Amino acid sequence: MSAVLKGNRPDLPSLAPMREQDLDEVMTIESAIYTHPWTRGNFADSLRAGYECRVLRLGDELLGYFVLMVAAGEAHLLNLSIAAGHQRSGHGSGLLGEAMGLARSQGARSLFLEVRPSNSAAQALYTRFGFRKIAVRRGYYPAHAGREDALVLNLPLA
Ligand SMILES: CC(C)(COP(=O)(O)OP(=O)(O)OC[C@H]1O[C@@H](n2cnc3c(N)ncnc32)[C@H](O)[C@@H]1OP(=O)(O)O)[C@@H](O)C(=O)NCCC(=O)NCCS
Repeated sequence: MSAVLKGNRPDLPSLAPMREQDLDEVMTIESAIYTHPWTRGNFADSLRAGYECRVLRLGDELLGYFVLMVAAGEAHLLNLSIAAGHQRSGHGSGLLGEAMGLARSQGARSLFLEVRPSNSAAQALYTRFGFRKIAVRRGYYPAHAGREDALVLNLPLA
């Protein structure tokens, strides 16, 4: 599993706040890995709203990012993404661990997220971290043919 560092070892990935200047690279990854990607405006709105947005870089290269909203003792992971060429190297786990720690440090007792039933890779990751399905939102996501449900997953952070 990859370590996520905040130090300055150039050979290890490092985490930093996402900024407006990151959004071109973020959008390159986002557009490549999702059938229905977030728009640049979705990321810009998240930054403006003060959500916890982080980027993971190895040197200059963007490996991935997450967007986390924390409020009223609950956290919602709104986006977690790893560039296609860097998946399955532990970076998603590293970012998820960071998001959980950040949520906890801001007083969240519970972390929620939505995932497509068709997204078995993400579900496998979340299951490994102990997330449990608590609800289904019918027709939540746009899909190629009509809409797709969302599974709502939860992880207690206590
Ligand atoms: C889901 C995602 C964030 C996982 O990131 P990642 O860096 O590839 O994940 P990791 O390498 O940390 O994988 C950890 C574990 O998750 C599971 N997993 C991850 N990708 C998987 C895949 N494609 N198939 C099956 N299991 C997978 C495995 O259990 C894996 O452990 P292992 O490699 O030891 O078997 C990444 O695949 C991604 O960005 N996908 C596209 C965007 C997306 O779907 N985001 C989530 C939306 S809810």
